[in-house]
Amino acid sequence: MRPSALTIPAATLVLLCTVACRRDVPEEPSPGTHTTPYSLDLPANFPAPIIPASNPLTQEGIALGRRLYYDTLLSQNGPFQGFACASCHHQPVSFTTPTSGTNVLAHVNLAWSTNFLWNGKVCGTLEDVMRFEVEEFFQVDIAGLNTHPDYPLLFQQAFGADHITTDHVVKALAQWFRRMVSSNSRLDRHLRGEIILTPEEMNGAMTFLSEVGDCFHCHPLPLMTDNGFHNIGLAGSFTGFDVGRYAITGAPMDMGAFKTPTLRNIALTAPYMHDGRFQTLEEVVEFYNSGVQHSASLDPLMTKPGPSLTLGLTPQEKANLVSFLNTLTDETFLTDPALGSPF
Ligand code: HEC
Ligand code: HEC
Repeated sequence: MRPSALTIPAATLVLLCTVACRRDVPEEPSPGTHTTPYSLDLPANFPAPIIPASNPLTQEGIALGRRLYYDTLLSQNGPFQGFACASCHHQPVSFTTPTSGTNVLAHVNLAWSTNFLWNGKVCGTLEDVMRFEVEEFFQVDIAGLNTHPDYPLLFQQAFGADHITTDHVVKALAQWFRRMVSSNSRLDRHLRGEIILTPEEMNGAMTFLSEVGDCFHCHPLPLMTDNGFHNIGLAGSFTGFDVGRYAITGAPMDMGAFKTPTLRNIALTAPYMHDGRFQTLEEVVEFYNSGVQHSASLDPLMTKPGPSLTLGLTPQEKANLVSFLNTLTDETFLTDPALGSPF
């Protein structure tokens, strides 16, 4: 059996090298004098996370990012006054909100993402999307952080910062997001040989991971997302936010295409899809089974296994597929005190 958790040596090397090199480049924002390197504890079947050399993980940086995430101070001068990031991104439901409208995307395993937001408005690293969140979405009052009784010292410790800048806030938040790892669902434990899924769950896995359901092409193990964009056929024509990635690229093939969300903790993150149109996983499965609508930009994967758009799953196969999706719930992640509010 595989060991349950291994440190990724490559990431550690990058980290050590960065800390060592940084001493020679004082003009760039550098880790503070009191930093303790932090390595993510990842199962062997996980790929290496994306960690830029300019922002190595430290305990101080992660703790600071966590505090910022839960602090309403961040929104005090912007359009979301009184909100913290965590006001819409709640840990017990995988950092989402169960409301209608534009669906709140989960904060889980984004250390592996290069495309962010439903239409991929921001591509790049977590630093890039945090810059968007800090500058455009929350319009964070950096001056307010500099005059705060606690933050100047915390930024000094994490980044050696004498004066807090947007860049420091971005880096702290990005480090915190890399710490939000889910790797202990029942499926993860099954893959590590620690438990065995039930026959129903195993049958659901067969449907999910074979051409029968054909889910795995876009929701591959272990992250349950291909990090890409697809038009899965929710509609036959598109207007407004529903044009998806087309709004960003203007490419006809991107019409109606959205980011593939992870399916981790999917049992808890209803409603589903970018617009929250489905309330239950049964409805989602029935959509994939019989509701896919044709359009010029429909992803070719949606027409398999035959020429028709219908999967032809039996009621038992559909129920098993839902049972399998339920194995993706990670109680460790949802209840980890280290991911909760520090206040
Ligand atoms: C008012 C509710 C709300 C607040 C407050 C909020 N978010 Fe979000 N967040 C959303 C919604 C809705 C989406 C999906 C929007 C979209 O994709 O167009 C989202 C998406 C994201 C994503 C993209 C995830 C992905 O998989 O691509 C990130 C990252 C993110 N939020 C970070 C933050 C951070 C950091 C803060 C605090 C600075 C924050 N959010 C505050 C509602 C909120
Ligand atoms: C062609 C790629 C593709 C295939 C194949 C695919 N999905 Fe998806 N899946 C997506 C995309 C993209 C979305 C988001 C679509 C949107 O909101 O417009 C999504 C959304 C979902 C959601 C809702 C996620 C959320 O957070 O709201 C679930 C559940 C889901 N898929 C399960 C499945 C299952 C089960 C299958 C197999 C029957 C499957 N998917 C096949 C790409 C795919």
